[in-house]
Amino acid sequence: MSDTPKSAFDPNPPRRNFYGRRHGKTLRQSQKGYLSEDLGDLRPRGITLQDNPDRKPVDPAGFFGDDRPIWLEIGFGGGEHMVHMAARYPQIGMIGCEPFINGVAMLLGKIRAAGVGNVSVHPGDARDLMDVLPDASISRAFLNYPDPWPKARHHRRRFVTPEHLVPLARVMRPGAQFRVATDIPDYVRQTLEEVPPAGFDLVSEGSQPWDDWLSTRYEQKALREGRVPHYVTFRRQGGETG
Ligand SMILES: C[S@@+](CC[C@H](N)C(=O)[O-])C[C@H]1O[C@@H](n2cnc3c(N)ncnc32)[C@H](O)[C@@H]1O
Repeated sequence: MSDTPKSAFDPNPPRRNFYGRRHGKTLRQSQKGYLSEDLGDLRPRGITLQDNPDRKPVDPAGFFGDDRPIWLEIGFGGGEHMVHMAARYPQIGMIGCEPFINGVAMLLGKIRAAGVGNVSVHPGDARDLMDVLPDASISRAFLNYPDPWPKARHHRRRFVTPEHLVPLARVMRPGAQFRVATDIPDYVRQTLEEVPPAGFDLVSEGSQPWDDWLSTRYEQKALREGRVPHYVTFRRQGGETG
């Protein structure tokens, strides 16, 4: 695939399935409060089909009120890595996507506790956000412990497939870093196979985490169960820095 995305923007995205969980156990009263009091101000407008049925591109400057670099976390789970990055890099804006509402509520609690002001939250599918982001609008992307879909017949549901990677490449700035962490060897295999043809160069891979890494809940679970984390870094083609 060339550096230039084929289509800048698809106004008629395909109907798509989401196979993960949207709800878990009953939310605590405090978490219901975070959702009703905080999410309205933190969620970007114009992302969902209801909000933006014509799928008009959104202006990312509207997320944080200025033209700061925007980093994207796909499937932030409980949000610990997002809040850590937002606190560590106050000059950037972190936008995260997570359809699992219990995870969103956990993130909101962490945002309150940390007092960070540079986080935006799409409580839904990353594909809906990517549909309406302009080309080259994301300066870094994180995919931490994506759903493994271990059965061979489900491997096409993994995030590291063209359905997700082609839109991701379109919205990423040339030279921008894309980081993937996983504990599943076959996920590493598929990542190394499928990410480069979408328009990324491999920068590094191995068992050494990034300097600014914060171990996530899923990583902790993997470690307890004896699995080995693996960290892969790509760079979006077409630029020199990331
Ligand atoms: C295994 S969990 C890992 C959560 C977290 N990143 C961590 O490391 O603890 C994978 C997460 O990805 C989310 N996810 C799956 N498909 C997604 C999609 N299309 N867009 C956004 N998030 C997605 C799931 O809801 C789930 O919370």
